[in-house]
Amino acid sequence: MSGAKLRLGSIAPDFDAQTTKGSIKFHEWLGNSWGIIFSHPADFTPVCTTELGEVARKQPEFEKRGVKVIGISANDLNSHEKWIQDINDFGNKVSHPNDKTDVSFPIIADADRKISTLYDMLDAVDATNVDAKGQPFTIRTVFIIDPKKIIRLTISYPAQVGRSFDEILRVVDSLQLGDKHKVTTPVNWKQGDNVIVHPGVSDEQANELFPAGFTKHLPYLRTTAQPGN
Ligand code: BEZ
Repeated sequence: MSGAKLRLGSIAPDFDAQTTKGSIKFHEWLGNSWGIIFSHPADFTPVCTTELGEVARKQPEFEKRGVKVIGISANDLNSHEKWIQDINDFGNKVSHPNDKTDVSFPIIADADRKISTLYDMLDAVDATNVDAKGQPFTIRTVFIIDPKKIIRLTISYPAQVGRSFDEILRVVDSLQLGDKHKVTTPVNWKQGDNVIVHPGVSDEQANELFPAGFTKHLPYLRTTAQPGN
């Protein structure tokens, strides 16, 4: 099941999987939603426990944006199900006692590494990220997939560094805004900040698209208020 390297613009490969929420066909499960598939090195490991708890607490934020989230690692269902109890307990009792941590998104059981191979989530070169048999763990990969099943973001983080899911939500916001309004977003942009008029839009078109106006700082750098705000 391995193939060409997945890139921005590639179609996210389809697959069948067993998950903590039952069997799925990935594309069917995505439907017309945006999707995030993210891998963690292994169940019952500390950084991963904090990451999956955070994704659970951010579930309303993903839903607000029409994004379905699914996790994956090279562990079986029994392991995922037992570990979810730890994630919820750690979140509810220790790290975020005032928020609810309830892992309700599916986690794919990929003990045979078929899907993680398909998605290039294994790093055989990283000797710090292998199991007791020397087989590579999944790395911390994230794919953001749009409703046409096109991969719009890929990131790979090393095992020792937990990801920022605030950053992943920020990217979703930027992609969704850009798709709708022909804008791009500058460094450190966040919701409500000014945006950049897409370089492919002429000044004449920009006058029509952004009736509140835009500022031309440089011939190629024009900013405008965030549309729809
Ligand atoms: C962790 O989640 O803490 C972790 C997993 C694999 C290697 C190193 C750290």
